[in-house]
Amino acid sequence: MTEAELQALSGRLKPLPRHVGIIMDGNGRYATRRGLPRSMGHRAGTERLRGIIRLSSDLGIEALSLYAFSTENWKRPKPEVDTLFSIFMEYFIKEVDALHKNNVAIRAMGDIEALPEKVCRECLAAMEKTGSNTGLKLNIGLNYGGRAETLHAVKSIAGDIISGKLNIEDIDEGSMMQRLYTSGLPDVDLVIRTGGEKRLSNFMLLQSAYAELIFTDTLWPDFSDECYIAALEEFAHRNRRYGGLEGK
Ligand code: FPP
Repeated sequence: MTEAELQALSGRLKPLPRHVGIIMDGNGRYATRRGLPRSMGHRAGTERLRGIIRLSSDLGIEALSLYAFSTENWKRPKPEVDTLFSIFMEYFIKEVDALHKNNVAIRAMGDIEALPEKVCRECLAAMEKTGSNTGLKLNIGLNYGGRAETLHAVKSIAGDIISGKLNIEDIDEGSMMQRLYTSGLPDVDLVIRTGGEKRLSNFMLLQSAYAELIFTDTLWPDFSDECYIAALEEFAHRNRRYGGLEGK
């Protein structure tokens, strides 16, 4: 896309969400429908990340949060879980330099210490390398669950109260949100879920309190740049009132 085309596109998509969250569902079905093993669907889904990240970054979206592995995904058969871990590791090894060049800052959301050591190490290395970049904030949900995240925040607050660093009266919504993995980032404005299901599945529950929700039947590996643009366009036309009244 030329600079002029990009300008025209971002003009058409105003207001853009500051923070987009994506529940990337449908990899398994994408593969099964083609008579392929599910792992091929996850690989095809990983290929789609490049375009979506690029477009988010080019349009000037501040943050993109991706649900890659939930706290519930451990229930899948071990070979599939192991394949996903290999894919994450390969992704960090292969893509980090390009993301770094594009000024993308990677952050893991979730309890990554519970992941296999090699995956955790690559993830930490990616965060270390790109952490001070000033472009798109790319949050990757790995062993992530909204309830586990909330529990983590509650424990951290309780610890600070016990040690005398914090008074109960000083806890407010802002200080609570700062204890989440997305500390310092704006709330999620738009959640997109591919793959036909219409639920949040424990994804960014507090950050998405006022998010617009877009559910599409398109399977994640088929979710093209054009599909993403159409979702952003739909978002631009939504009427957000945050509990207030129109025009007030
Ligand atoms: C859901 O599809 C998808 C996942 C559990 C994994 C999402 C992971 C990727 C797109 C891989 C790459 C991510 C990174 C960050 C490298 P599903 O298996 O539930 O599909 P189904 O509902 O059709 O079975």
